[in-house]
Amino acid sequence: MNAALSFEATNEILGSVKIPATPAVFMELHELMQKDEPDIDEVSAAISKDMGLAALVLKTVNSPFFGLRAKAKSIRQATTLLGLLNISNIVAGLALRRAMEDSGAPTPEHYWESPVNIGMVSAKLSRQFAGVSPDEAYMLGLFHNAGVPLMMMRFDDYLKTMGDAEASMVDVTQLEDERYKTNHAVIGYFVCRSWGLPEHVGELILRHHDVIEVLAENGGAMSKTGISLAVLKMAEHIDRRYWGKADDPEWDRWGEQVLAYAGISSTDFEDIVEDMTELLAAG
Ligand SMILES: [Fe+2]
Repeated sequence: MNAALSFEATNEILGSVKIPATPAVFMELHELMQKDEPDIDEVSAAISKDMGLAALVLKTVNSPFFGLRAKAKSIRQATTLLGLLNISNIVAGLALRRAMEDSGAPTPEHYWESPVNIGMVSAKLSRQFAGVSPDEAYMLGLFHNAGVPLMMMRFDDYLKTMGDAEASMVDVTQLEDERYKTNHAVIGYFVCRSWGLPEHVGELILRHHDVIEVLAENGGAMSKTGISLAVLKMAEHIDRRYWGKADDPEWDRWGEQVLAYAGISSTDFEDIVEDMTELLAAG
C-alpha cells in the first residue's frame, strides 16, 4: 500500500463522509477516566444515565465470554467486578457501535452481529495470553472494520469490491487501494483517532490486514501487537465458521502462521472453534 497516497486520498474522502459524532456518554466517561483516581460511583452513574446502553453493558459483561465469577446485577457491580478501565472500554465499544448504527450507514443485514461476535470471542481468547486485556481485545474485535460502513456510504460498488477480492483471492485492502486510493483499514484508523480511542488500538486497526508483516516483527517473537492481531484473526475465523461461511482467503493464506505464532496446534484450535461457536449459539 502506498501510505502517503492513501492518506491523502483518505483525507479527501473523509471530507465527503460523515464520521458519526462521539456519543455524549463516551465523552463524559473519557473525562472521568482522566482523573488521577477515577470515582467508581461517578463512572457508574454516567453509564446508568443511558438506560439502553446500561442494559447492553450488563448483557455484554454477563456473557460467558467475559468469564465473571458472579453475574453483575447493576452497572456499579459490573464496574467493581471488571474494573474501571475494562468497563469504560466496553462502554466505548458499545456506544460507538450504536453511533455507527444510528448514522444510517447502509450495512447489510446482520452486519453488526459479526463485530459483536468477534469482539466477544477475542475477549475470551485473549485471556490465554499475557499482555492482552480482554476489554482491548473486545474493542479491537468490535471496531476493526469500522471503516467498512463509511466506505459503503461513499462508494456504491463497495460491496462488489469486497466480493471481487474474496473471489479472486486478492487482499481486500489491496483491491480497495487500486480502486479508491484508500481502504477501510485507513478509514477505520481515522475514525478511531476522531473518537479518541487508544492510539495502539487505532494502529492495530490500520494494520489489521497486514497479518504476515505484523507477525514477522520482532524477529517473529511474540509481542502485544502480534498476539492482539493473532487473536483478532482467530476470532474472525471463528465467526465465519459460526455463520457456516467458507474460510476467508486471508485465513487460508495465513491461518497456519497465525496459530503457530500463538502456539496453538490445529487440533487444539478445532476444539476452541467448537467451544466458541457453541458459546455464540447459546449467547
Ligand atoms: Fe478488515
